Amino acid sequence: MTVNDTPVSVAHAGASEPCSKTARTPPIMPRDKRVCAPRHGENSLIIQPGTHVGGAMPRCVMGVTCRASLVNGRQHPPSSGPQRSALRQNDPFAALDLGGAAAHDFAMTEHFTGNFTQQEPLPEEAITAAVEVMRHGRIHRYNLAGAEAGEVALLEQEFAAQVGAKYCLAVASGGYALATALRAVGVAHGDKVLTNAFTLAPVPGAIASVGAEPVYVGVTEDLTIDLADLAAKAGQARVLMLSHMRGHLCDMDRLLEICDAAGIIVIEDCAHTMGAAWNGVPSGRHGAIGCYSCQTYKHVNSGEGGLLITDDEEVAARAIMLSGSYMLYSRHLAAPGPEAFERVKYDTPNISGRMDNLRAAILRPQLRDLDAQVTRWNERYRMLEAGLRDTPGLTVVERPEQETYVGSSIQFLLLDWAPEAVQEVLTRCGARGVELKWFGVPEPVAFTSRYDSWRYAPAQSLPDSDRILAGIIDMRVPLTFSLEDCALIARIIRAEVSAIWQAQGADS
Ligand SMILES: Cc1ncc(COP(=O)(O)O)c(C=O)c1O
Repeated sequence: MTVNDTPVSVAHAGASEPCSKTARTPPIMPRDKRVCAPRHGENSLIIQPGTHVGGAMPRCVMGVTCRASLVNGRQHPPSSGPQRSALRQNDPFAALDLGGAAAHDFAMTEHFTGNFTQQEPLPEEAITAAVEVMRHGRIHRYNLAGAEAGEVALLEQEFAAQVGAKYCLAVASGGYALATALRAVGVAHGDKVLTNAFTLAPVPGAIASVGAEPVYVGVTEDLTIDLADLAAKAGQARVLMLSHMRGHLCDMDRLLEICDAAGIIVIEDCAHTMGAAWNGVPSGRHGAIGCYSCQTYKHVNSGEGGLLITDDEEVAARAIMLSGSYMLYSRHLAAPGPEAFERVKYDTPNISGRMDNLRAAILRPQLRDLDAQVTRWNERYRMLEAGLRDTPGLTVVERPEQETYVGSSIQFLLLDWAPEAVQEVLTRCGARGVELKWFGVPEPVAFTSRYDSWRYAPAQSLPDSDRILAGIIDMRVPLTFSLEDCALIARIIRAEVSAIWQAQGADS
């Protein structure tokens, strides 16, 4: 596959004058035959360079100046008729209905200018509550006046009620919640802990922080933990730290069957699944402990922060002692009674990681809004998914019926693609303002890393997972994106994936 950076002539669909602009040209295709991306239920379109179709303007397709034509009975691009009307009527995917090459030309004119890391401002209620805490100055969670409960204790009480847990502890970060959960169930130096091969650094990091060793379990094409691999490795550890990575929930019923049969304690990493559920049961309520992150890029935003829930009173008492309660545990509102603390207080170390009243104050109103935010995320997710579906070479990750998900990010697979071709898709989407992350990238980049990047853990070989990781493309979906933004992003991805896919086919 060749790529060059020469100026190319680009004619915009619907424009009468071809324009000239500098663009990264796609890999050159043979001049005789190009298959365009069909939409669901459509036939493929074949562009034949140099062929005229009544009234169609000269076009540059795939870096080669040609005239568009169509085989299979449809004009390409449409100069009139229902597809043009669809464009006029603002059908968000009208450009896609032109077929891949036309979509590419049409979308060549489009750039996305939004910011993939910009979250929404905090709700006014959160700002008011934060100002109130700053005015009285009692920011430490145990610094309370009179009968005051404190923002942190109230947050814990409210979140426990929201997910139906007996106990809740708010802490300094999601990673801290994970490490605390491991300590609270007695994981110690030298122990092995099962976890996902497809997750992010804080998960194996939490395991390593207690001196334990991660044992990775593979990932499936659904981007969930490979339950067959889990069953095969079940004898190797007594704890599973299950990461619902990027919000994908596995068959939790089957997972619990495997773990219960093997006596494995499940700690759920719900950093990406606050607000999600499996068969109506909230994520975090299937295992012995659920851990959440309230860091800026998650579903509620306090900059940093974490929550831990459990129904087990000893685990709750230990976690509270671990977080640094200085024997002030009676000030908690979602904690077990004093007898549970009496049993653990002298042999549980203080490893300070408390949450403060300021962060709790801004989280409480956000938790009240969570359902509404989930609806908004999912509208965006579905718009993206609809725009990407049926792109040749691209696999959409199907969501099971039992799963209530939160579409705060979207993943798709470029399975078995050559790495250079994947990189080219990323580069070209990036040049058009669409930031994609790739789990196949050889070196960890920003938040994205892979199990073989974590070299403090013993090296493990997971060839089936390597194949899947090499194809995972990941994109944030902040709520600052409008639905139109999502339609535009999907058009850009679709056009670039189609272009490179066709070129790959041509090269092979
Ligand atoms: C999968 C996963 N688990 C856990 C965490 C830990 O969250 P925190 O950043 O709050 O420590 C993160 C954070 O990015 C994450 O992505």
